[in-house]
Amino acid sequence: MNSSEIMGNEQTLMPNVYAKRPLMLVRGKGALVWDANDRQYIDCTSSYGVSFLGHCHPAVVEAIEKQAERLIACHGSFHNDVRSALVRKIVDVSPKGLDRVFLSNSGAEAVESALKFARRSTGKPEIIAMMGSFHGKTMGALSATWDKKYREPFEPLIPGFRHVPYGNSEKVRQVVSEKTAAIIVEPIQGEGGVRLPPTQYLGELREICDDRNVCLIFDEVQTGFGRTGKLFALEHWNVIPDILCLGKAVAGGLPMGITVAKSEIVSTLKVGEHSSTFGGAPVVCAACKASFDLMTQERLWEKAAKLGEHFQQGLKSLQSKSVIIREVRGLGLMLGVEFKFDILNIITGCMNTGVLVLDAGRNVVRFLPPVVISPEQIDQAVKVLGTAVGTEEHARLPSAAIG
Ligand SMILES: Cc1ncc(COP(=O)(O)O)c(C=O)c1O
Repeated sequence: MNSSEIMGNEQTLMPNVYAKRPLMLVRGKGALVWDANDRQYIDCTSSYGVSFLGHCHPAVVEAIEKQAERLIACHGSFHNDVRSALVRKIVDVSPKGLDRVFLSNSGAEAVESALKFARRSTGKPEIIAMMGSFHGKTMGALSATWDKKYREPFEPLIPGFRHVPYGNSEKVRQVVSEKTAAIIVEPIQGEGGVRLPPTQYLGELREICDDRNVCLIFDEVQTGFGRTGKLFALEHWNVIPDILCLGKAVAGGLPMGITVAKSEIVSTLKVGEHSSTFGGAPVVCAACKASFDLMTQERLWEKAAKLGEHFQQGLKSLQSKSVIIREVRGLGLMLGVEFKFDILNIITGCMNTGVLVLDAGRNVVRFLPPVVISPEQIDQAVKVLGTAVGTEEHARLPSAAIG
């Protein structure tokens, strides 16, 4: 079968729900991926933030191989040595007071679990979420997600969700009521355009939650695990939530959702009220434990912070030469470049020149590269973006406007 036949299979035999790029990736190593014709790309997507440690990190591969020969599946109703070691590790590295861990299989499930835990522990029904938020596409997570193009086709969603402007704690204060179970927020909005909060914002949400007996949920599915230059993004503002959601990168590329919560929250759940057949499967736990070990032994968040600064400088210097870039923003290796126009051509231009980048809304190019990316690869990515930007400037603006 040639590559167009293979791509055709995916197109015709799967629902058309992914905006597919005309590119088939067949292998990866570190910050690089290759297509079926052995063409190499610098991967500034990390598969939407998943491969933060780099593709096929040897420590993760070894952990998977070893565990695959011992025990692949083990339901949560049995004890398991690897799972036990993993939850110990997660609690050890989690913020103080977050000492209970529920394991699932995706970011959306980590969020579902958090919403259920909040409702169960408070006995209250309502959830306050933010405009611009993204929490996943299962029905509960989707109810918390903002974008109406994801929500409307599936309404009615779960009742009791309200959205308020991100970054405005006063609005939260106005809508919080005796029925509010939780406030859910991404410390930095990812899909919503790499948006950072005002400095006091998360602390103010903490205060509101403390005053009104409301659970504060941080969705760090995208920002967690070293991505922003700290192990958890919450460390930038020193605010500890009641429930923390993790996903994407935590298991070195295997599917894993983690919900870490305070013991007084999860102690309200009774046997059978929540579970997952695959959640905490030994092979995934082994990959996740190896990933956390690597993260803490090598303090990879510090590397992300340094590389991120280098990347951001490169992007800012590009901005200073371009009339179509509005803003460069982000923290660590979570970066966004906001354009004055739609960025589809820029993403395609980068791909055609060997660099894979993401969008975050219609006019933000998002970079989520792995922490093993080299400064030279970053420079190359900036250069390729520069070429794509230049081409776009010429295409969009009258020549007098370019200079
Ligand atoms: C902040 C955030 N929460 C939740 C999710 C959903 O994760 P998943 O796609 O693994 O269900 C995402 C995915 O992009 C995310 O960025």
